[in-house]
Amino acid sequence: MEIKAITGDITKIKADAIIVNFFEGMLRPDGNLAVIDKALEGTISQLINQGEIKGKLHEITIVHSMGKLPAARVVIAGLGKLPELSQDKVRGTVAETCRLLRQRGIDNIATIAQGAGVAGISVEGAAQAVTEGALLGVYSFRKHMTKEAEYGEIKQLTIVDADEAKLSRLVPGCNKGRILAEATNLARDMVNEPANYMTPSQMAETAKRLAETYGLELSVLEREQMQELGMGALLGVAQGSQQLPKFITLHYGGGDSTEIDVALVGKGITFDSGGISIKPSEGMVEMKGDMAGGAAVMAAISAIAQLKPKINVMAIIPATENLPGDNALKPGDILTAINGKTIEIISTDAEGRLILADALGYAKRLGAKLIVDVATLTGAMRVALGEIYSGAFGNNQALMDNIVAAGVEAGELIWPMPMHEGYKEQIKSDVADIKNVGSKYGGAITGAQFIAEFVGNTPWVHLDIAGTFLSEKERSYLVKGATGVPVRTLVNLVLSLAK
Ligand code: BES
Ligand code: MN
Ligand code: ZN
Repeated sequence: MEIKAITGDITKIKADAIIVNFFEGMLRPDGNLAVIDKALEGTISQLINQGEIKGKLHEITIVHSMGKLPAARVVIAGLGKLPELSQDKVRGTVAETCRLLRQRGIDNIATIAQGAGVAGISVEGAAQAVTEGALLGVYSFRKHMTKEAEYGEIKQLTIVDADEAKLSRLVPGCNKGRILAEATNLARDMVNEPANYMTPSQMAETAKRLAETYGLELSVLEREQMQELGMGALLGVAQGSQQLPKFITLHYGGGDSTEIDVALVGKGITFDSGGISIKPSEGMVEMKGDMAGGAAVMAAISAIAQLKPKINVMAIIPATENLPGDNALKPGDILTAINGKTIEIISTDAEGRLILADALGYAKRLGAKLIVDVATLTGAMRVALGEIYSGAFGNNQALMDNIVAAGVEAGELIWPMPMHEGYKEQIKSDVADIKNVGSKYGGAITGAQFIAEFVGNTPWVHLDIAGTFLSEKERSYLVKGATGVPVRTLVNLVLSLAK
């Protein structure tokens, strides 16, 4: 889909459909809708009076113009109550409208900068939200389907505003929205891709492509180099698989110094069978997406490279499979992580925290000033918060506040979770410095408490996205499958830190 912004009169645009808005509680059409109503000889007012158009959020009404307007159809999209509008509601409404119009075989759409000037939404923010909603909402993963889709793709979406002075804000809004949505869709693609395609080597290939396209510095460490660095925890997880582990870093240097201002660390388990502590087969297919954290940080840094903030960022992705095999890690084994700490393995299914231990230790070794890690770490997180909120754990309130705000801006909700010395008791080992599993209660917290052991005093937040990396069904601008969470949050965070 090509999206562009132009100066013009939406009521005079020739398109298959023009989308305009109506708010709940309004009694009659105004602005553009009033002009359209007049051209349609009062049809819109009639539908409002009859209660067919109420303006409820996500309500969509299609009216055919029958030659009375240059556009073939007028689509009235409800935005709910005016004072309650948000960018995220605009994203959702645009997504649902685009999906419906696509189903009807419509491929050329024009709309306004929906929500601009309402409830504090800027012109730029509105254009961004419209663009994100459209691109995220019509996402589909059809790569491995040999049959053609039932519907075609929307080819063109034009954002139209009569005020020429606004174009200089609509264009960057569109551009930012496109970069963020494309990055999110890239992460979705990687997560939806099955594990026989998205292997650790393929993650490294993807990183290489991103490095070449966006001018990032790439490094891929092989098993021998990981051995030299002492990444015993990551290597322990990797030893059960035929697939070679890859330790991937992508660096964006937008700042003046040589320091790493932000390290974004993402769990890259390309398939989590549980290993010797094997998982039940029901639902195991979801574990092809256990690299969602890694995909998110890769996608985020590719968006950052396009938006060019003045800051240095490194994405770090430890990538491996977690499989049982005759050489696999076993419960009771003791591993030594990059920082010299020894770990007793209680469950080989608590593998995420093991590979993160080495990746976080590596970020520390490089002197990263601030660390955010993203991981599908615990089933317990999904039990606690479900599909809507990701859980956040950390050691620095200012960073936590920043991330929560960045998430609200993105519509990717994040809820702060507690950490406490008391939980450390649970991961004390009798034979090593620490063990990789606590009791059966508070599993998301003990997971976070474990990785905290490897970040020390560096300001750090851990995002557990086990509940949010997949959507069970189509919802607003999400489709069934990978959500691409928290790509846009990470980008927003880095942009805010660069200011
Ligand atoms: N990748 C899983 C966590 C997960 C579960 C993510 C469901 C998404 C959906 C992780 O590696 C895991 O297996 N965690 C264990 C930890 C336990 C052994 C302490 C879990 O949550 O059961
Ligand atoms: Mn696991
Ligand atoms: Zn896992």
